[in-house]
Amino acid sequence: MSISKLAQNLKGSEIIKIAGEINELKKAGQNIANLTIGDFDSNIYPIPGELKSEIIDAYNHNQTNYPPADGVLDLRQTVSGFLKENFNLDYASNEILISGGSRPLIYATYLALVDPGDKVVYPAPSWNNNHYCDLTSADGVAVPTHPHNNFMPTAAELSEYIKGATLLALCSPLNPTGTMFSKENLEEICDLVIEENKSRKEGEKPLYLLYDQIYSQLTFGDHQHYNPVSLRPELRDYTVFIDGASKCFAATGVRVGWGFGPAHIIDNMKAIIGHMGAWAPKAEQVATSHFLKNSPAVQNYLAEFKQRIQQSLEALYKGIKHLKAQGFPVDAIEPMGAIYLTVKIDLKGKVTPDGKVLRSPSDINFYLIQEAKGALVPFSAFGTDEDLAWFRTSVGACSYEEIESLIPRIGEAIKKLS
Ligand SMILES: Cc1ncc(COP(=O)(O)O)c(C=O)c1O
Repeated sequence: MSISKLAQNLKGSEIIKIAGEINELKKAGQNIANLTIGDFDSNIYPIPGELKSEIIDAYNHNQTNYPPADGVLDLRQTVSGFLKENFNLDYASNEILISGGSRPLIYATYLALVDPGDKVVYPAPSWNNNHYCDLTSADGVAVPTHPHNNFMPTAAELSEYIKGATLLALCSPLNPTGTMFSKENLEEICDLVIEENKSRKEGEKPLYLLYDQIYSQLTFGDHQHYNPVSLRPELRDYTVFIDGASKCFAATGVRVGWGFGPAHIIDNMKAIIGHMGAWAPKAEQVATSHFLKNSPAVQNYLAEFKQRIQQSLEALYKGIKHLKAQGFPVDAIEPMGAIYLTVKIDLKGKVTPDGKVLRSPSDINFYLIQEAKGALVPFSAFGTDEDLAWFRTSVGACSYEEIESLIPRIGEAIKKLS
C-alpha cells in the first residue's frame, strides 16, 4: 500500500539497530556496557529531588488541563530570568516558547524558516539535522568537520557553503562529540553570518542561525560556553536558540524544552507547535518553573551531576589514551561538555578469529559488542561519511564502574584480531 514519499524516504535510526543487537545479547544473559544512547539511566542519574516533588505537587494541585499554547507564563518568566542570570541574555516572556522537550522546537524552527528546497547548512557530525532537512524537504548541506578542530566547524569550512543559505544549524557543546566552540571560533562564524546577511538584497530571506545549547550547563574545567547573541548582539534578529531541561537535569522523560528568539519567529513557531499539540505537560511546566527559581537546588544538583558525568568521561578518555600509549589503534578527544566522548577505534581491514574482515565502523562496532561487551555509535549515524572510524560514546546510561571495566575488554578484543 502506497504511503507518502516523505514517509518512504525517512531514514531509520542506526542507534535503534544497535539497540536491537544489544537487547538480543541482554536477553541471552550478557552484560553490555551500553554507551550508545544520549539518555540517562534514571537509577544512576535521577532528576533533582526538588523537581520530582514539584511535579508531584503540581499534579496534587490538579495542574492537568491544556497549558497555554506558548507555555505557562510563570515558566516563561522564570526562563527569562534564568537566561539573564546564566548568559546575560535579555529575552522577554513573549520571545520564549515552551514545548514538549526541545525536539519540537527544532522542528518548528525549521518549519517556520525553511521552505522546501531552501539550503540548510550544518556540520557533520551533528545531531539529527539530516532528518529535519528530510522532514522539511530542505536542501541539506552537511559540512565535514575534522579531528584537529575537535570536530567543531570553523568559519573557513562553512564559508564556501553559506552563500544563499536560509539556515545555519549549530550546536555547542555538540552532540555527538562532547566538544565545544572556542570564543574565537564562534566569533568568526558569527562574523561570517553577519557578512552574508549584509550581502542580501532588500526583501530577500536572511541567513538564520539555529543555536542549540541544550548542554550549555554541562561544561567541564576551563571550557566555557559561548553563544552568538552575546558575542555579536546584531545577530539577535536572526538567531533562534534551542534549550531545555532534558540534559542538564537528567530529565529527558520530563519533556520540558524552551526556545527563544525574535518575537515574530517565536509567534509562528507557537502556531506550528500548537497544531502539533507538542506542548510540555502543564504540571511539568509548573514544576520546572518552581524548580528553576530555586537557585540553590539548581546549583547543588548541577555541581554533583557534572562532577559524576565528568568523572565517567575522564575515566573513558584516560582509558582510551592508555590503550593508545600501549600501541592500540585508538584515540580520543578531550571531553569538554555534554555527556559524550569522541573515540577513534580504527580496526578497518583487521580479521576476527572466525575469519571475518572488519570493513566498516559498523562492523567494528558489532565486533566490539560481541567481544568487548561494549557498544558505541559510529559517527556515520550523525551524518558523516560511512567509513570514518570515529564513534560517539555516551556515559549517561552506564555506571563509573561499568566504564572502568570496559577499557581492558576493548584492549583484549583488539588483541584477538589479526
Ligand atoms: C543537541 C540536542 N538537541 C536537542 C535534543 C532533544 O532534546 P529533548 O529530549 O529535549 O527533545 C537532543 C537530544 O538528544 C540533543 O542531543
